[in-house]
Amino acid sequence: MASFGGVAVFNARMPLNPARVRADFPILQQRVRGKPLVYLDSAATSQKPEVVIEAMARFYRESNANVHRGAYKLSEDATAMFEGTREKVARFIGAPSAEGVVYVRNTTEAVNLVAHGWGRKFLKAGDEVLLTEMEHHSNLVPWHLLKRDRGIVLKHIPINDEGRLDLSRLDELCTMKTKLVALCHASNVLGTINPVAELAAKAHAVGALFLVDGAQAAPHMKVDVGSLGCDFYAFSAHKMCGPTGVGVLWTRPEILREMDPFMVGGETILEVFLDHSTFRDPPHRFEPGTPAVAEVAGLGSAIDYIESLGLDSIHSHEESLAAYAQQKLAAIPGCVLFGPRSGPRGGVACFNLEPIHPHDLATCLDQDGVCVRAGHHCAQPLMRRLGVVATARASFYVYTSTSDIDLMVESLNRTREFFGCR
Ligand code: ALA
Repeated sequence: MASFGGVAVFNARMPLNPARVRADFPILQQRVRGKPLVYLDSAATSQKPEVVIEAMARFYRESNANVHRGAYKLSEDATAMFEGTREKVARFIGAPSAEGVVYVRNTTEAVNLVAHGWGRKFLKAGDEVLLTEMEHHSNLVPWHLLKRDRGIVLKHIPINDEGRLDLSRLDELCTMKTKLVALCHASNVLGTINPVAELAAKAHAVGALFLVDGAQAAPHMKVDVGSLGCDFYAFSAHKMCGPTGVGVLWTRPEILREMDPFMVGGETILEVFLDHSTFRDPPHRFEPGTPAVAEVAGLGSAIDYIESLGLDSIHSHEESLAAYAQQKLAAIPGCVLFGPRSGPRGGVACFNLEPIHPHDLATCLDQDGVCVRAGHHCAQPLMRRLGVVATARASFYVYTSTSDIDLMVESLNRTREFFGCR
């Protein structure tokens, strides 16, 4: 075992021991309706280990002050933590410097910042933005507004029946008219992991920039924005053992320097006159008002925590869980599975149990202490492609074990009996 930033580091390839990891999460120690809590909704938000909760509480108990504003020790300490975490974030995603790391509230805000700060400045009528059919609404709706307001053209890479991108028409879709290719690294619904580096190369070959929604990838696998070829990479702390209210937009600094601020006010400026202002260099130009300082303390601690488990170990653990869940689910009569059954994929099992509506299913599972998400998962176009209005989704993380999946399957079987399914 080595030490990294004061945290014990296990061999990156050492298998996770979910029972031991689970002990780090106070919320998972509780029983729900007299049964052990089976939390299978980590794609919506992950649970938080004690170290992260404690890092935030310690910040409030010992170091709370605003950042970049006070000439006193508390504020200097808070600023050092805030900027030190920016460096840690840069290293976490393989970015060469912290200059490109902008703190935002979440991935949704990050994509909106690109749409407003870069899109509104540089895109004009007829320019094309290439998205995919599996995007979360957060990477669709901001571009809809630019279509309405700027007349840009939106194109979409379709998916095949397995739930992977169908790249057979890529040359037709990605042309010299394409100015941005923007897609999820991993699908929040299907678990598909997309061939990001290959698509980045294609985008750059036609002179387009490349944006990756990493909300469902950065918590689960090693990300290196350099080798992936990203121009923008976005993710949220709350899906990676960190708090809600803080996320990251990383942008290649030479692009960030050209972008307009989206929201402005205190901290974003160099000088303000009554009728105009001048702006600071990135990243501060993009961080108006008092930021989420305690949450940044939590993000730093979350990065230490997941790195102590090893991103490669996390990824293999989740791949095994996904394969296990699919095998168990496929054996239940009436269970329809969505998403890839082999190859690179994340820790998500997306399914329906016919003829039961997924909302009824989730309500019944809840009676057994099993938490899954049901609905359209903020991906209505993908639901249409799958030919459903909603699905159930079980999603896994570092504390998930095969016994959680067994408990879900037992509960699904009880639900079938309750509904009189044959
Ligand atoms: N995007 C999150 C999910 O997939 C909220 O559940």
